[in-house]
Amino acid sequence: MFDSLTKGYLPETDFPVRKIDEEKCTRCGRCVETCPTFGFKWQKGEVPIPRGYGGFSQACLNCGNCTAVCPSDAITMSGSYSVREGRYKNSLQAQMAFPNPMCLKGEKDYDTFKEELTDVERAIYERRSNRLFKDKAVPREVIERVLEAGRFAPSAGNCQPYKFVVIQDQKLIHEFESLAMKTLRTFKNLYLDRDGKKPLWKSTLFTFLSYFMINKLDPRPFTAIEKADNRNNRIYFDAPCIILILKDKRGVSNPDLDAGICAQNMVLSAHSLGLGTCYIGLSIEPLNYPLMAGFRKKLGIRHPFEAVTSIAMGYPKGKIDGVVKRDTPQVSWIGF
Ligand SMILES: Cc1cc2nc3c(=O)[nH]c(=O)nc-3n(C[C@H](O)[C@H](O)[C@H](O)COP(=O)(O)O)c2cc1C
Repeated sequence: MFDSLTKGYLPETDFPVRKIDEEKCTRCGRCVETCPTFGFKWQKGEVPIPRGYGGFSQACLNCGNCTAVCPSDAITMSGSYSVREGRYKNSLQAQMAFPNPMCLKGEKDYDTFKEELTDVERAIYERRSNRLFKDKAVPREVIERVLEAGRFAPSAGNCQPYKFVVIQDQKLIHEFESLAMKTLRTFKNLYLDRDGKKPLWKSTLFTFLSYFMINKLDPRPFTAIEKADNRNNRIYFDAPCIILILKDKRGVSNPDLDAGICAQNMVLSAHSLGLGTCYIGLSIEPLNYPLMAGFRKKLGIRHPFEAVTSIAMGYPKGKIDGVVKRDTPQVSWIGF
């Protein structure tokens, strides 16, 4: 507690370092496009340059998607995202590793054992969030097939406390994005000045607020807001279809968790059907605020339903999937 107070809101953070091999780089900009954050400076025809944001040395979530989409393996990442001190200190072990479900000794190339994995395992390890979509509608019967996978998800008390809103109307998606961005931009400006600087009073305010709203005020998503702000509000990355997953607040136990499990069934089923998906949470918080009551009404969202998350879905533009490294959570083995 005292530690949090003294270190304040701004965490001491180690970021992964992204390096781009200029010889290999094709200057296609796919890494820039797929990055969930405002993570690269880039001009068409140039090699992208990793950048920082809002006082952080790197605007990077360590997802590795830039490495997965790169057509020439030009990007390498080293180190991990690790918050060493303060309010957001994490409990990961800062040990980044590729999938190793067979517990093989030493670093083994995924391709050498991938054939031994089940289809479900391969989908789990190879699926990446897709932010590059073809301009091609998803047929209704394919969407229905994805929703059906959600319907058969496990839920507490078998309550199935969810409802879906599927939107293909691009005008409506853009309206949603720009309404959500109004709130998000206000938040961002409260956090940083327009020139990206953070005056002391803003740090102090956020330090204070983070005690009450720790999940809402993690600084990492702010760089995703910056990206949307720079891309005409495109929170949904021009996906041809979005699915909102609503929870029925009356569901037993934990309807948010039920909705999340249901969503992941859909994401994996979509992947198996050759679709790409990306969870989009950025727009959900604003959607649930009183400011967007009118828009909620337009979508038919009313009590007892509330949006939990959303999925952007469409056909991937080029290769998106691929294995990436992940950090290693602590595990307590008991009784072994
Ligand atoms: C609940 C949830 C909300 C998310 N919201 C966003 C979002 O608003 N924008 C975005 O680009 N990615 C979003 N993501 C995707 C994450 O950034 C991504 O899952 C993470 O970086 C790991 O990458 P991977 O999905 O390729 O493994 C979200 C993921 C989850 C699970």
